Amino acid sequence: MNEVACKLQREAERIASRHGLPAFYTRFKAPLAVARRLFYNHPGVVRLRQIVEPEYNEALGHGVHHSTRVSIDCAALIHIETDGNHMAPSTVERLMVIGLYCGVLHDISRDEQNHAQCGAQKAQRLLGDFSLSPEEISCVSEAIRNHEAFASSTFSGRFEWAQLASDCLYDADKFRWGADTFTHMLWHMMDYQNISPRELIEKFPWGMSGAASIIETFRTATGRQFGPEIVENGLEIGKEIYRYLIEHFKES
Ligand SMILES: [Fe+2]
Ligand SMILES: [Fe+2]
Repeated sequence: MNEVACKLQREAERIASRHGLPAFYTRFKAPLAVARRLFYNHPGVVRLRQIVEPEYNEALGHGVHHSTRVSIDCAALIHIETDGNHMAPSTVERLMVIGLYCGVLHDISRDEQNHAQCGAQKAQRLLGDFSLSPEEISCVSEAIRNHEAFASSTFSGRFEWAQLASDCLYDADKFRWGADTFTHMLWHMMDYQNISPRELIEKFPWGMSGAASIIETFRTATGRQFGPEIVENGLEIGKEIYRYLIEHFKES
């Protein structure tokens, strides 16, 4: 990453550290810890990560950091959303693992024009080599096909939990429109697309209004309850970094 983008990222991290964590990350520490443990220890998830992580395009800001955050939040959301359903712990864990597969694979085709559709097809091929039923594989594939922002979702309905996995993947991915945009993704994009600080200042208000509009699109009950705060927290960080940019780069 270039020097200016690095400097701005450090400044954004400093601002973010003053804002504290949104309630989702303090209230659901236990499901998040279970999700994290599965992400780093479940043999299938570890094997899948070893295969696909080297293929991620870090330059676009959708690399290991993004997919790890999406995967863990997706699996935690599945745990939270099924709580109270009196399901066997092994069934919940299985669904969480499916959520992790969704997260690990969802941006595997990020470079492609229609990355959700291409990623869904690639996931289908890759998972054929894993211990998943055909229904579970199409569940992951459909969730990936349906993860794009502001697009309506479609389902074949072959797997009972397909809607849940898809909605949790969508919300976990859109949680990244909060602080992660400013502590991570924006600077990778700035560097990759060779955007100057001045150009960034010009595009900033447009980007902020796009982030604000995602608030209306959360799909799970938990996402609708806790997602807006995550995004608003990001917007507050964004406003501060925008002021910093104007102060330091307006004439550059
Ligand atoms: Fe995506
Ligand atoms: Fe994503």
